[in-house]
Amino acid sequence: VEETLVLVKPDGVARNLTGEILRRIEAKGYSLVDVKLVQADRTLLTQHYAEHEGKPFFGPLVEFMESGPIVAFRVAGNRVIEGFRSLAGTTDPSKAAPGTIRGDLGRDWGVAVQQNLVHGSDSPESAARELALWFD
Ligand code: GTP
Ligand code: MG
Repeated sequence: VEETLVLVKPDGVARNLTGEILRRIEAKGYSLVDVKLVQADRTLLTQHYAEHEGKPFFGPLVEFMESGPIVAFRVAGNRVIEGFRSLAGTTDPSKAAPGTIRGDLGRDWGVAVQQNLVHGSDSPESAARELALWFD
């Protein structure tokens, strides 16, 4: 069965939304396989966001991700990689559809697009790479 990495970003943890986000994942029928509370360091985040290194938002993004604890979920399910991306909604919470995590729970629109509550792997290759990074 397919697996993906979900991160509840520092804004989601600080706003006590970890349980609500997990509830939505489980309600969809996906299973929690492993879970971890992590204070991520720059090395981990630079590896995690390697594809964005050099982009103008890279610095602020890493700084934000370092700003507080993150909850990492290893989640399993049929077509879970694509399925979680659709549960999360589009990157910018102000554009994310109602019914999605970002669309229902996102805040501070335009101020900081990086504060969009969750991360989900975007392909089987990313999922394998990211799960190895966050869960060894
Ligand atoms: P993730 O699931 O977090 O990877 O989101 P995504 O796949 O929807 O977005 P992408 O991988 O393109 O970007 C990674 C993260 O960088 C996003 O979730 C945002 O937090 C942040 N980000 C992306 N684009 C921008 C931008 O234009 N400005 C700012 N400030 N942050 C951005
Ligand atoms: Mg991405």
